[in-house]
Amino acid sequence: MSNIQDKVVIITGASSGIGEATAKELAYKGAKLVLAARREDRLQKLQEEIQNNGGQAIYKVTDVASNEQMEELADYALKAFGKIDVMVNNAGVMPLSPVHEKKFNEWNMMIDVNIKGVLYGIAAVLPSMRERKEGHIINVSSIAGHLVFPASSVYSGTKFAVRAITEGLRIEEFSNNIRTTIISPGAIATELLEAISDAELKAAVVEDSKVAIKPANIARAIAFAIEQPSDVAINEMIIRPTIQQL
Ligand SMILES: NC(=O)c1ccc[n+]([C@@H]2O[C@H](COP(=O)([O-])OP(=O)(O)OC[C@H]3O[C@@H](n4cnc5c(N)ncnc54)[C@H](OP(=O)(O)O)[C@@H]3O)[C@@H](O)[C@H]2O)c1
Repeated sequence: MSNIQDKVVIITGASSGIGEATAKELAYKGAKLVLAARREDRLQKLQEEIQNNGGQAIYKVTDVASNEQMEELADYALKAFGKIDVMVNNAGVMPLSPVHEKKFNEWNMMIDVNIKGVLYGIAAVLPSMRERKEGHIINVSSIAGHLVFPASSVYSGTKFAVRAITEGLRIEEFSNNIRTTIISPGAIATELLEAISDAELKAAVVEDSKVAIKPANIARAIAFAIEQPSDVAINEMIIRPTIQQL
């Protein structure tokens, strides 16, 4: 039996890309899923697909930038399934731009979703995991959490922060038997680039991302981290396309 069978897993950003692919992979391996994002039509469609394939999934429309909504999401999972084994803080946005353009709204959105969303996700599941002395928190950073590129200053800042927060969490919570994993994808073919508002920059990034690999590859890495024996923690992974330089 898979070590993923019957684990209760919350996935944020499950309505597309890496989150959606992770939901399908984990459902196939027997997890009980709680899908979260803002677009209900996408969540509903994914839930139906998983259920039609014999998997288990429920969903809750959630904005990760709301502390209250993230607490409600964790409560919903606990009421439905009685425990939370894994939290995948995957939701993220990447409206790249150079700092001098002062796109304050886009900076705020990245900080709210990519940093605060992850923190709220951790905060929402930590009490029940600490009580059970068991749990696994997986935070999606990026290769941009290891390197900085022109126009990635703010995005990279948020993804460096995700790695710092996750390592801090590991040091604070290992003695409560809580595992942490940082996932840092390279170029992955998803909808992420659509939020870049500068047309010229977007075209250049789209060109660079021609090497992108499918989100299912990240889903398998997340499944690998979850399916380890409970005394083994995969703390950090970088997964790039083989032919990506940076
Ligand atoms: N694609 C890449 O090349 C790449 C590389 C490195 C890291 N990443 C990271 O991977 C993660 C997933 O991104 P992706 O590539 O799969 O992109 P994507 O297809 O655009 O998916 C992003 C997901 O985040 C959700 N989301 C955005 N804002 C949200 C909010 N306020 N509340 C709840 N959910 C929100 C979106 O759902 P709704 O819009 O329905 O809310 C969507 O499901 C992100 O953290 C991203 O930074 C991606």
